[in-house]
Amino acid sequence: AAAGPNIPLQKDWSETWCTLPQPFDTVLGEVLNYEVRPDDVFIVTFIKCGTTWMQETAWLLLNNLDFAKSKELPQTQRSPFLDFHGIVTTAPNVVEYSKTLTSPRLLKTHMPANLVPRQIWQQKTKVIYVARNCKDVVVSSYHFAKNLRLWAGDNIEDFVTDFLNDEILYCNYWSHIVDFWKMRNEEHIFFVTYEEMKRNLGGVVQRLCDFLGRPQLSEEELQKTLDHLSFNKMKDNDKANITTVLKQHITTANDDFQFMRRGIVGSFKDELTPELQAKIDNWSRDFLAKHGLTEEDIFGKL
Ligand code: A3P
Repeated sequence: AAAGPNIPLQKDWSETWCTLPQPFDTVLGEVLNYEVRPDDVFIVTFIKCGTTWMQETAWLLLNNLDFAKSKELPQTQRSPFLDFHGIVTTAPNVVEYSKTLTSPRLLKTHMPANLVPRQIWQQKTKVIYVARNCKDVVVSSYHFAKNLRLWAGDNIEDFVTDFLNDEILYCNYWSHIVDFWKMRNEEHIFFVTYEEMKRNLGGVVQRLCDFLGRPQLSEEELQKTLDHLSFNKMKDNDKANITTVLKQHITTANDDFQFMRRGIVGSFKDELTPELQAKIDNWSRDFLAKHGLTEEDIFGKL
């Protein structure tokens, strides 16, 4: 499963592994060697960190707040996910599909730093990285994997064990986040947390305008944008809520699968026992101590 060690490293990455399923091996080379355009923008995240929310945000800013088009075309077509073929409804090969898009393109990948397209590091392409606290990611990915039946287990205790043992797709969680945290002050990296987006999306949007070289939004534009991006509006918008697309492509999905689940900070407090929280916290503490970090350094108080 560990594809990392065979890949020549570009940087002094904190860790090099990443759990990838078999079919990924075919896509991996395509992603690593992906032909990047100078004005491409990449959204890179560990799973369930608020990727889709940020894609909708950044797409609007890159497309002059074209709300009409955002409601016409599914997000998977406006901002393709490079790691899997077949999630874009109109094209079997997502890499080929992405070549048909006009610039600036907004491309999504969940690959860790050492497996994203190499040209990102050579060209210093813009990267938006969204991180989310570990326990909420565990809970969110548990529901996602269970309801799409992408994970063979049954209960959350077993899921936590698999997550901490790097047996879940794209794990290790912390190495993914820490590599980008360390690069957060580089000019071509925009590092933000889901928690900050929940606290102050307006501030994040204006900061993102600067990063993307776009004018700041007027108060009216900002309010319209925040309304479009609210959890309830995105949930009701079938071009931004990817529930239907995922159900179409992942045929094992349960009927009641909902991509837009709770959308809050701290759902772990209701959904993980104190023992499971402590187990994850200890694991996090051990990993982060090696980098002189604590979870609070990255996410603030939860
Ligand atoms: P929950 O499962 O905790 O509800 P990703 O896009 O990386 O897969 O992340 C999915 C998570 O982001 C889900 O978390 C989903 O509900 C949340 N999310 C999506 N859109 C959101 C929005 N507009 N506001 C807040 N959270 C959102």
